[in-house]
Amino acid sequence: MESIHWYPGHMAKAKRQIAEALRRVDAVLELVDARLPVASANPMLRELIGSRPRVVVLTRADMADPAQTERWQAWFAGREAGVLEVDARHGRGVDRIVPALERAAAARREREARRGIRPRAVRAMVVGIPNVGKSSLINRLAGRVAARTGDRPGVTKSQQWIRLGDVELLDTPGVLWPKLEDVHAAYRLAVSGAIKDEVLDPQLVAAYFVLWCAKRYPDRLRARYGVEDLPAVEWTDEQAAWEAAEPVLAEIGKRRGLLGRGGVPQTDRAASLLLHEVREGLLGRITLEWVEDIEGAKAGVPTSDVE
Ligand code: G4P
Repeated sequence: MESIHWYPGHMAKAKRQIAEALRRVDAVLELVDARLPVASANPMLRELIGSRPRVVVLTRADMADPAQTERWQAWFAGREAGVLEVDARHGRGVDRIVPALERAAAARREREARRGIRPRAVRAMVVGIPNVGKSSLINRLAGRVAARTGDRPGVTKSQQWIRLGDVELLDTPGVLWPKLEDVHAAYRLAVSGAIKDEVLDPQLVAAYFVLWCAKRYPDRLRARYGVEDLPAVEWTDEQAAWEAAEPVLAEIGKRRGLLGRGGVPQTDRAASLLLHEVREGLLGRITLEWVEDIEGAKAGVPTSDVE
């Protein structure tokens, strides 16, 4: 995985390039991670796409909690032109994308037909944060292995259209930054691996996950690590989170033989192990952001574009 450090200059450039590419399309396929569909969305996208319909694709649905993915689908269905879940790595669900884009663009096409404009293919582009599955999805749709463009922000220069029935898809994705300004979003992104471990302290990221998992999926920590004593503490700040989660990490260290001098469990190694195993899906299918977390935090604000 390549990582990008998003500086204001990068963001401005990415935004400019995507705004330019968007002028050529009728609809947008925004890829978000099914495990954290709001944190992995770009905060500026709504502004950039204007009135164009957006179809939200929940990637890594194979790693997310299916019950929560269903709830997220219902949540997005009331807000966007379309929503569907995929496993972009294996191609599951990908065949529903073209019909969803056609449905999303139907109203616009009818308007054009009424004005006597000849029907033409619906043009769409894929946008999303680095590593969300853009290349995998485009490759699946195109049925070939297109050259990887790397995780460069914005849109790369040479662009071609991939013809998919009545839909034409831009072969290069738009790369935008995730929601970094919200502390919960940043920690969820870090747990998922979308933010490099150098950006946030992995021990605090692991502590964030321990509190989340203790609240939403307590059986997973018990089943995998035999940890019985779980903290019943909501995340408020780093210090409190660390104090609550540290005994759990120590227990994991002890159980896995991650011991330092004098047999003391090493919580830094336990944190790395835990994050690695979560990202590999070894604790099972977990969703890091539930609908009520967003609605609770942003009561009354209905879109996913809230900064
Ligand atoms: P990007 O273009 O948005 O940056 O993402 P890309 O498609 O390169 O995907 C990044 C990594 O995430 C790849 O793994 C890819 O296989 C994996 N991935 C993408 N979508 C899904 C999905 O829906 N489910 C799962 N489980 N994984 C997904 P990699 O380890 O970098 O490469 P590889 O091992 O697949 O070769």
